[in-house]
Amino acid sequence: MKVTVVGAGAVGASCAEYIAIKNFASEVTLIDIKEGFAEGKAMDLMQCASLNGFDTKITGVTNDYSKTAGSDVAVITSGIPRKPGMTREELIGINAGIVKSVSENLIKYSPNVIIIVVSNPMDTMAYLAHKATGLPKNRIIGMGGALDSARFKFRLAEALGCPASDVDGMVIGGHSDTGMVPLIGKAARNSVKVSEFLSEERMQQVVEDTKVGGATLTKLLGTSAWYAPGAAVSAMVQAIALDSQKMFPCSALLEGEFGLNDISIGVPCIIGKNGIEKIVEIELSDAEIAKIKESAEGVKKTNALLD
Ligand SMILES: NC(=O)c1ccc[n+]([C@@H]2O[C@H](COP(=O)([O-])OP(=O)(O)OC[C@H]3O[C@@H](n4cnc5c(N)ncnc54)[C@H](O)[C@@H]3O)[C@@H](O)[C@H]2O)c1
Repeated sequence: MKVTVVGAGAVGASCAEYIAIKNFASEVTLIDIKEGFAEGKAMDLMQCASLNGFDTKITGVTNDYSKTAGSDVAVITSGIPRKPGMTREELIGINAGIVKSVSENLIKYSPNVIIIVVSNPMDTMAYLAHKATGLPKNRIIGMGGALDSARFKFRLAEALGCPASDVDGMVIGGHSDTGMVPLIGKAARNSVKVSEFLSEERMQQVVEDTKVGGATLTKLLGTSAWYAPGAAVSAMVQAIALDSQKMFPCSALLEGEFGLNDISIGVPCIIGKNGIEKIVEIELSDAEIAKIKESAEGVKKTNALLD
């Protein structure tokens, strides 16, 4: 399997590193617009091969898409990240142009590629990639929910005083501070609902901390986070590579699912060799349905800015 990662910055390099360490891809091509940057990151990562015991070949290239030819999966992380105090939506002006040209270049050399969009505002960028490429809807996947759910599980584990591996939880909806819908009513510790362990107030705190998970890190780091985003993308690439049919909340183009149309937003998806194999229409409470509808309105407002 050949994977291209566009943008050799913080998230792109972290994603390439996790893919290599997990050793499921034969080749990772990093591509960046900044002269020599992807080449440098690739060389640094390759010098980890003997230490970390991987065989994946990582190469770097400056803006030459012919070197990405024949990619099975491409991850788009190119664009600017937010600074403290910024919303993801504020990045649209610069990132929309980048994501449009990058996705068009990718399919020119890899007509069968599955694209994972990471650049923010992610749901709108995934929608834009659909419009720019016209690819079938299973082949453009937005990454947001996998990260938000990992952050939700981190906060749940913290509240419960247990390891994250003991908890299960999912965040759907838009990948924004106000749009995320952490499904607290379905969250569980080893199949026991977390409401059996936590007060209503503590559960609401977990929800709020999850929604501002990215902003909290941006404030601490001065830029947005990269380890968990890179790990989340690599887990999705791995599910495609191994055709593992794992369920992740992903930003998918909806055609009536959850009562929504002409929007890409976070919903539970089965991921396998064809990308999005299936959108899983889980049962939601009336309150959860109201929240996802409100979240969709927010995403549509950002989508309207593309015009
Ligand atoms: N969806 C998510 O969950 C999630 C999580 C974290 C970050 N992000 C987003 O991912 C993006 C990247 O974040 P980062 O921290 O890696 O930023 P970064 O600045 O570290 O890296 C971005 C890289 O993109 C490159 N680039 C810019 N224009 C390009 C182009 N036209 N072609 C190729 N490369 C280009 C830059 O040179 C830079 O190296 C941001 O938009 C950020 O908001 C999304």
